[in-house]
Amino acid sequence: KKHTKVNELLTATPILTEVTVKGWVRTFRNNQFIALNDGSTINNIQCVVDFENTPEETLKRITTGSAVSLIGTLTESKGAGQRVEIQVSKIEILGDSDAEKYPMQPKKHSLEFLRENAHLRVRTNAFGAIMRVRSTLSFAVHQYFQERGFYYVNTPIITGSDAEGAGEMFKVTALPFDNTPRTEEGNVNYKEDFFGKETNLTVSGQLEAETYAMALGQVYTFGPTFRAENSNTSRHLAEFWMIEPEVAFNELADNMDLAEDFIKYVIKYTVEKHEDDLKFLEQRLLDEEKNKPQAERSEMSLLEKLNFVLENNFKRVTYTEAIDILRNSKPNKNKKFQYLIEEWGADLQSEHERFLVEKHFKCPVILYDYPAKIKAFYMRLNDNTEPGKETVRAMDILFPGIGEIVGGSQREERHDVLVEKMKALGIDEEELWWYLDTRRFGTAVHSGFGLGFERLVLFVTGMTNIRDVIPFPRTPQNAEF
Ligand code: 4AD
Ligand code: MG
Repeated sequence: KKHTKVNELLTATPILTEVTVKGWVRTFRNNQFIALNDGSTINNIQCVVDFENTPEETLKRITTGSAVSLIGTLTESKGAGQRVEIQVSKIEILGDSDAEKYPMQPKKHSLEFLRENAHLRVRTNAFGAIMRVRSTLSFAVHQYFQERGFYYVNTPIITGSDAEGAGEMFKVTALPFDNTPRTEEGNVNYKEDFFGKETNLTVSGQLEAETYAMALGQVYTFGPTFRAENSNTSRHLAEFWMIEPEVAFNELADNMDLAEDFIKYVIKYTVEKHEDDLKFLEQRLLDEEKNKPQAERSEMSLLEKLNFVLENNFKRVTYTEAIDILRNSKPNKNKKFQYLIEEWGADLQSEHERFLVEKHFKCPVILYDYPAKIKAFYMRLNDNTEPGKETVRAMDILFPGIGEIVGGSQREERHDVLVEKMKALGIDEEELWWYLDTRRFGTAVHSGFGLGFERLVLFVTGMTNIRDVIPFPRTPQNAEF
């Protein structure tokens, strides 16, 4: 008989019907009450076992972590905390779980311990909630763009180009494991690899997406992205997922409108769908904050923070205005800010970004018109800027508690200006011949941005370490999964 999902049973109206459920035992209390979870919701369903008529052997096998199939009657529950429960008439143990050895005991585990058990941590309430929220956020990403006539384009994972020009790539040697070609001296012969050319894992699908925007008008990518940066921070992963829309005929202000509307849409969609999961995560945060001194506790709860973002406009500020704000910010107390931004043209450190978002504006901020020198080669040079003070139509979106969540720009559409810029930066024109073709044949104003998907999941779930919002984070300690 087909089994029913727990989320349906918990809200079902015609009770007193016979149902089948399948799932994993979270706890088994007094040889009588099974708290069963099947992943469809954070909530467990209480299943009442008739222990007097159940063999001792079966009762022993109902342990935390075991997989069971239960048949019983859905009834109104007399107990507190649940509307319905199942009076079990038939128990089948599908898979045993040795209670002594099962790592996910029904108690609070440290996040460090759970990271070492990335294959099992999704069986906890917190990680179940996070991964359900993550799944819905990805669906909302596709829905947002598809509803608005964007085409999903799959850009290459293995590529010969360094889209960001930052040299943070993982090299793909593409040499066969056995039969590796060798030179006469016995060294690996890299010239004879599959491509006859150096390739790497992509750092961004933007350049390829631009070529598609120049034909399909509005496109987006959503795929894995790799950065070989020294990323031992709570905001960086070596393998992360990025969403990159690219739109023909959009200027920088249109790009900002798109990014803000998009972020609000996916958050709203997810908040509406995941009330129970987010309430749980909110409570988890509140419990954690109880241990902190008053001054370090956040002013808003998780759901208040999410609603705040939905209800308020992102503040749009130029880089130059931001520098002035930082310069004038309590110079004595914040010497650090003053020192770091003494010179116009310096890149903002994360302390600066946090100051602007969390202390000064107290809302998401879109910083734009950055100095050309600190941004990528493909960004549109602003007209009429002073020599030495050139700016580009770049935009970064900064979020409270996260820092940079989006990086984007209007693109340099003028062939000659782009080539000049590449020359100045030592970027090989011949390697990017295909990219330059977009500027040779039917070039047009266009813009796009990249949203770091895990940073968005961090914000929505209120988690603080990026390794806790991707199923299998790539870190040197856990590359075995
Ligand atoms: O600012 P970034 O480097 O911009 C680009 O790659 C552009 N090509 C995007 C575009 O215009 N199409 O990266 C974009 C975003 C960042 O704002 C951040 O959210 C995320 O990607 N990101 C990372 N997330 C996790 N781990 C890392 N190592 C990340 N590096 C960037
Ligand atoms: Mg960036």
